[in-house]
Amino acid sequence: MVTTAFSIRHARPDDAEAIARVHDLSWRDAYRGVIPGRELERMIARRGPRWWRSAVLKGTGLLVAAFDGGVVGYATYGRNRVPSMPYSGEIFEIYLLPEYQGLGFGRRLFNAARRELMEHSCLSTIVWALADNDKAIAFYRRLGGLTVRRAEERFGDNMLSRVAFGFASAPVR
Ligand SMILES: CC(C)(COP(=O)(O)OP(=O)(O)OC[C@H]1O[C@@H](n2cnc3c(N)ncnc32)[C@H](O)[C@@H]1OP(=O)(O)O)[C@@H](O)C(=O)NCCC(=O)NCCS
Repeated sequence: MVTTAFSIRHARPDDAEAIARVHDLSWRDAYRGVIPGRELERMIARRGPRWWRSAVLKGTGLLVAAFDGGVVGYATYGRNRVPSMPYSGEIFEIYLLPEYQGLGFGRRLFNAARRELMEHSCLSTIVWALADNDKAIAFYRRLGGLTVRRAEERFGDNMLSRVAFGFASAPVR
């Protein structure tokens, strides 16, 4: 695991441009060929620096992963959006720049988001991934997530399957 110069902290308004860049590059890398092209472009265009700045100012749960001072990843989290499920917290998004994946940073960012949720009394966590996102599915399984629900979501003209992973209440390193 690489640890040098890596840190995780709450996002600041002046991170907006860097987070938008991570979002753009990571989403293109993860979803090209999975989400229909026009829909993907639309989703990326909506999330420019202004959107991220506003998210920070609104108090959205948003951590950034920094390497050598530059933002290389982010995670957003909050209360579970499907309250009928027995998980109080949710990690909405977790994305790293492609060249910073596979180095142990995702695990550290995921655990940091879980700790934040726990501090806000959300002891258990759910996270959704597209079923075709092999990397994310392998990652959540490896971290101990259990498949707890499947659902379909429309992306443009396509219906895609989503999988929810549940993480029960447990101490997180
Ligand atoms: C998913 C993501 C956040 C994972 O972060 P990461 O830094 O690549 O993962 P890590 O290096 O921390 O891996 C953690 C564990 O998962 C395992 N893992 C990660 N990716 C894997 C893969 N593709 N296949 C098998 N195992 C994998 C690692 O081997 C590691 O296990 P270990 O600690 O026992 O060795 C990152 O790859 C990413 O940003 N992917 C693109 C965006 C994305 O899909 N986000 C999730 C949307 S739902």
